[in-house]
Amino acid sequence: MTRIFSGVKPTGHLTLGNYLGAVRRWADVDQRRADALFCVVDLHALTVDHDPARVRRLSRQAATLLLASGLDPRLCTVFVQSHVDEHARLSYLLECVATDGEMRRMIQYKEKSARERERGGSVRLSLLTYPVLMAADILAYGTDEVPVGDDQAQHVELARDLAVRFNQRYGHTFVVPRATRPAVAARVMNLQEPTSKMGKSEDVGPGIVYLLDEPDVIRKKVMRAVTDSGRDVVYDREAGPGVANLLEILAACGGGDPEALSGTYASYGALKKDVADAVVEVLRPVQQRHKELCADPAYVEDVLRQGAEKARKTARPTVDEAYAAIGLLPAG
Ligand code: AMP
Ligand code: TRP
Repeated sequence: MTRIFSGVKPTGHLTLGNYLGAVRRWADVDQRRADALFCVVDLHALTVDHDPARVRRLSRQAATLLLASGLDPRLCTVFVQSHVDEHARLSYLLECVATDGEMRRMIQYKEKSARERERGGSVRLSLLTYPVLMAADILAYGTDEVPVGDDQAQHVELARDLAVRFNQRYGHTFVVPRATRPAVAARVMNLQEPTSKMGKSEDVGPGIVYLLDEPDVIRKKVMRAVTDSGRDVVYDREAGPGVANLLEILAACGGGDPEALSGTYASYGALKKDVADAVVEVLRPVQQRHKELCADPAYVEDVLRQGAEKARKTARPTVDEAYAAIGLLPAG
């Protein structure tokens, strides 16, 4: 059976980008057609300046939102990365396979480290090695497919390269994974800045729709979205990124195709109104279920405990095999 693995970082509140680009597909499709594991990758949240209490809180919230979005523990495994030692254990071996140059070429590293240096801050070493830990997340489970948004394509490519290199050097150990992307909304853009990704790490955001935003807040954010200088509703990511983004969000929420939808609107105002309604409707059941789950934290904890147990059992043999293959003496 196909094995699927993906994860979400608890560095901020989950956004509409996370939902349309990744989580909704995990719930609607992936968990039903494969042996799937979904992970709150908390170790990755420590690569930038962080507040321990906030990471703890956001990890719990992310797990709750994954379940609220429809991940069903009877169909898939939901767990927290730091509860399973195999990730860190394998990461070190992969650091011995990856190169320094390869790490420095990662787009996210270049962008984030430049931003940090501009602020006069220091760059954590873990920010550089982060894609190796991500490769370990993926390879430890013999993963075939990694459903992610576009921004993660380069990292999955690295995981592939490391798997192939390890296998060539030390004998076949890892399945070589591949990224899968959603048909639309693989890169939801910031509503105020439609040439940048809608990312959750920026703290305040009139251009970011969070999964737990109240309906009136969502409406306000969408109605104030930056559109383009023209007046016609056309789907053109280059020339009109603001309108294209709204059309993609609408298509992702309600089905349909952004190009075809563009022909049905005479004004930006009418388009925004429909986008606002569609987003509110898509998020309504998620928010409702989130509220119910918050009233039952013991259930969420239980899911995570059982998920970690299952994940550990799945990862252990592959990671042990890698330890033996690379030349480490078995513990006996
Ligand atoms: P992250 O928030 O970086 O942990 O991302 C979790 C998942 O959501 C990854 O698969 C990302 O590719 C996806 N994702 C994050 N932001 C967006 C976005 N703006 N559009 C589409 N997918 C996204
Ligand atoms: N780096 C991913 C992100 O920022 C999160 C992530 C960590 C991940 N490990 C993963 C995604 C393994 C897929 C598979 O979105």
